[in-house]
Amino acid sequence: MVSVANFLTRAILLAYSGSVTSATPANVLQGNIVKPRDAVFRDAVTTHVVPMRSHALDHPQEPQALRRRGNKRGNLPANLTNVHDIYYIIDLLVGNQTIPVSVDTGSSDTWFVQQPYQCVSYFWDEGRKPDCGLGDGFKGNLSGGNIPDVLFGRAYTDGTFVQGYFGYEDVTIGGLTAHHQTLAIVNLTYWYGDGRVSGLLGLGYPYMTSLSGAMDSQPEYDPVFTTIWKSNPIAPIFSIALSRDDNVNATAGHPKDETSFLALGGLPPVKYDDASWGRTPIQPISAMISSWGIDSAEHGLYIISADAYVYGRTDNVTGEVVGELTRNTTQFPILIDAGSTLSVIPKKMCEAIYAAFDPPAQYLSSTGLFYAPCNATVPKFGVQIGGKTFYIAPQDLLRQNARDHTGEFCRVGVTDSDSPPHVLGVTFLSNVVAVFDVGNHEMRFAARNAY
Ligand SMILES: *[C@@H]1O[C@H](CO)[C@@H](O)[C@H](O)[C@H]1NC(C)=O
Ligand SMILES: *[C@@H]1O[C@H](CO)[C@@H](O)[C@H](O)[C@H]1NC(C)=O
Ligand SMILES: *[C@@H]1O[C@H](CO)[C@@H](O)[C@H](O)[C@H]1NC(C)=O
Ligand SMILES: *[C@@H]1O[C@H](CO)[C@@H](O)[C@H](O)[C@H]1NC(C)=O
Ligand SMILES: *[C@@H]1O[C@H](CO)[C@@H](O)[C@H](O)[C@H]1NC(C)=O
Ligand SMILES: *[C@@H]1O[C@H](CO)[C@@H](O)[C@H](O)[C@H]1NC(C)=O
Ligand SMILES: *[C@@H]1O[C@H](CO)[C@@H](O)[C@H](O)[C@H]1NC(C)=O
Ligand SMILES: *[C@@H]1O[C@H](CO)[C@@H](O)[C@H](O)[C@H]1NC(C)=O
Repeated sequence: MVSVANFLTRAILLAYSGSVTSATPANVLQGNIVKPRDAVFRDAVTTHVVPMRSHALDHPQEPQALRRRGNKRGNLPANLTNVHDIYYIIDLLVGNQTIPVSVDTGSSDTWFVQQPYQCVSYFWDEGRKPDCGLGDGFKGNLSGGNIPDVLFGRAYTDGTFVQGYFGYEDVTIGGLTAHHQTLAIVNLTYWYGDGRVSGLLGLGYPYMTSLSGAMDSQPEYDPVFTTIWKSNPIAPIFSIALSRDDNVNATAGHPKDETSFLALGGLPPVKYDDASWGRTPIQPISAMISSWGIDSAEHGLYIISADAYVYGRTDNVTGEVVGELTRNTTQFPILIDAGSTLSVIPKKMCEAIYAAFDPPAQYLSSTGLFYAPCNATVPKFGVQIGGKTFYIAPQDLLRQNARDHTGEFCRVGVTDSDSPPHVLGVTFLSNVVAVFDVGNHEMRFAARNAY
């Protein structure tokens, strides 16, 4: 999930709290120990693997927050579309408390609520009882103390926001500890959820921690995974295998093919096609968001450029491609974001994919997204990265568990936008093993075996 930039962030934060104060240095400088890497690196399955519980929101087509906004929707500062209907959960050990968080590669801060916290309504939602749907928060004080005078504030593209301050605590994931980790503690939020998570684990680069909207600049700090690879004997990579099925009861002892994993320092234990590895450089943050006024050569998020997007109709009986696939080589930066359910691609291309459903997908204004009959013939759609094409399975392109209120229309797994960020989200990621090689600034993908 990407925080929204500049005016929207400012508008929301100003509405609640006056301005965000200027920052004092908050960095935790960890020695810059870069692990030696083999010249030709072969990823190995790591022992530092954390199963992720995946969970779909009960009413994905009509999340509570959007429903509650009701006819006051006209007051929104921008069209807000909830495209986050499934999320992936791990337990963080924070000090000696277990805090469930959702996993996000589209942001860098790790935050969670602290008991007691304040849940607020939006200004267009006044007078209704707020219900943020976050789980129990951290209790008591952080053992490393708080950082005085630096406020934390993030607003996300779906209209949610969190606010609080920073402090230090040990955080353990998959048996690896980030000691004295800078963490954001939230005591004021507008959120919606169903109580299964209390925060978010941001897996982006340090650079993104410094941003609270493009106009605010805070000193950056090492986020959780950076601290972990700098201070533990693992390679500076993590990898993700997201599985599409709701699997909220996944446990470490019972890994199954459909389990989702976060793996630190290597690969997760899932089956994939070893001949399908494609690799591509991670691009600097300026590749995507210079339009947000960020013009840095630093790496911030997992931005890549695909070689091509391929798509076309399929036969309604055999499932074979009808005619030739369109191979669109238009180049644009695209974000690998486990915190976004749908993939977001440019409008013209996406319209060709909507039209290639049979019957064609159609816009449902009540949802702001495209749907097709749940029994429609699904087109072929693939993304070519590093010379290899990764196809999105029909069940990710037409999502049987995300239906409209009639139950006959299913949500399409891609959505269109002509403004950044374009995103390869869960609907793409559930077809691949994704390796985030932050040491080499490279993404690698392999096609998952069918599951
Ligand atoms: C919001 O959506 C409506 C209907 O699709 C469209 O007419 C309008 O231009 C959109 N506004 C913005 C700010 O995107
Ligand atoms: C957890 O840690 C706090 C302080 O860090 C300590 O006071 C408390 O006793 C610990 N609780 C348990 C169950 O270990
Ligand atoms: C947390 O810290 C505050 C301020 O230092 C203190 O007043 C409070 O008693 C502490 N709470 C706990 C549970 O230790
Ligand atoms: C949240 O914490 C900050 C920093 O300690 C404090 O200034 C603010 O009043 C707190 N807000 C709420 C709603 O508790
Ligand atoms: C998950 O576990 C809970 C508690 O054991 C149980 O009530 C629930 O039905 C399980 N859900 C699934 C999808 O298996
Ligand atoms: C497949 O498409 C053909 C031609 O449009 C149509 O006649 C036929 O009924 C369709 N079959 C199925 C199973 O949808
Ligand atoms: C490829 O996609 C771009 C971006 O949507 C679009 O402008 C262009 O027309 C497409 N090209 C073809 C051949 O469809
Ligand atoms: C698809 O489902 C609709 C009802 O939901 C039905 O009328 C139609 O015949 C079905 N089409 C196919 C090709 O099965």
